[in-house]
Amino acid sequence: MAKKTIRDLNLKNKTVLVRVDFNVPMDGNKITDDNRIVAALDTIKYLIEHQAKVVLFSHLGKIKSAEDLDKADRNLNPVANRLSELLGQEVVFIDETRGEKLELAVKNLQEGQVLLVQNTRFEDVEGKKESGNDPELGKYWASLGDLFVNDAFGTAHRSHASNVGIAAHLDSAVGFLMEKEVKFLKEAVDQPERPFVAILGGAKVSDKIKVIENLLDRADKVIIGGGMAYTFFKAKGLEIGQSICEPDRIELAKEIMEKAGDKLVLPVDNVVAKEFNKDAETKVVASEEIPTDYMGMDIGPQTVDLFAETLAGAKTVVWNGPMGVFEMEKFAQGTMGVCQAIANLESATTIVGGGDSAAAVTQLGYEDKFTHISTGGGASLSYLEGAELPGVESIDNL
Ligand code: 3PG
Repeated sequence: MAKKTIRDLNLKNKTVLVRVDFNVPMDGNKITDDNRIVAALDTIKYLIEHQAKVVLFSHLGKIKSAEDLDKADRNLNPVANRLSELLGQEVVFIDETRGEKLELAVKNLQEGQVLLVQNTRFEDVEGKKESGNDPELGKYWASLGDLFVNDAFGTAHRSHASNVGIAAHLDSAVGFLMEKEVKFLKEAVDQPERPFVAILGGAKVSDKIKVIENLLDRADKVIIGGGMAYTFFKAKGLEIGQSICEPDRIELAKEIMEKAGDKLVLPVDNVVAKEFNKDAETKVVASEEIPTDYMGMDIGPQTVDLFAETLAGAKTVVWNGPMGVFEMEKFAQGTMGVCQAIANLESATTIVGGGDSAAAVTQLGYEDKFTHISTGGGASLSYLEGAELPGVESIDNL
């Protein structure tokens, strides 16, 4: 069902509540990656240009106890400062999530002004009001504005007061980032141009079961790398040494391989090490020859070639999850090789799910080589699983 977008709203002089995902990585009070703030700028600028009064809501990290309220990396103040730099205008920051100060500041906003509310999860400190979608909280926040725009794709798999809760009380629409994310991720899975190749990595089969099953039904090839490949090797009866394995998923891995046939592509060689350590001694071995005292840390060079061959000619590629322990330089070659192979594809729509694989693309400097790099980790996984996202579903239909 098509959703209303920000273009369908009459914004002039309206107080527009906007859910953004400013859950950015922090080192103390320093933002270490402002990508999610940058990604929200189109929507915020559009609202400013159309003379709305803009009230932004976001969470930052999790709040489990009162001590978390004082932690620098849970406070949105630095985000307000960074946003102000990026917009070139003041961003009013209100260090509260409810009450007179907030209400007055919202009331005093002028057309084109922007306000950021403190971390919505401060409301989780006495019972999960934000994360539990407390109906009173959603209603209260909604009472501060005239319209609601949800641009927080990264949080769209959550059903929280600041997205689903507010949306229940106001006319609503999606912002430009949400529109773009949904278009690329949903269309890639639902109506891919073929051949459609999916590449899945990461440590655990259990995190990706639904994604693997859904994509085996939809893709022409499903490539598996990363730590989860070793559970598949074990299911094939291979020696995997000290490699990561989920014994309770071996049967499932067998079933998946039987069902998938040659649609599933597994690594043929591996970079192995004796220790999980950045300085560990390494060697490359065939998948049938992993020594008992070694562990798999990355896919090997022949596998990179095999995956590149499998990708050749693809018209749609979706990638989620690194191929090895890419944070350690010695084990980053596989992820880099796959990144390069996708980047080299001509005339393919190439999509990177968020989280680690998006971080790998950025770390390796390939941002401009992909059609779309999602800002959502869990949210993009939900789409790859074939699930609907409550943050999107709660927005008014066209
Ligand atoms: C994310 O970073 O994936 C989103 O901001 C959601 O955060 P959460 O997992 O803490 O709900």
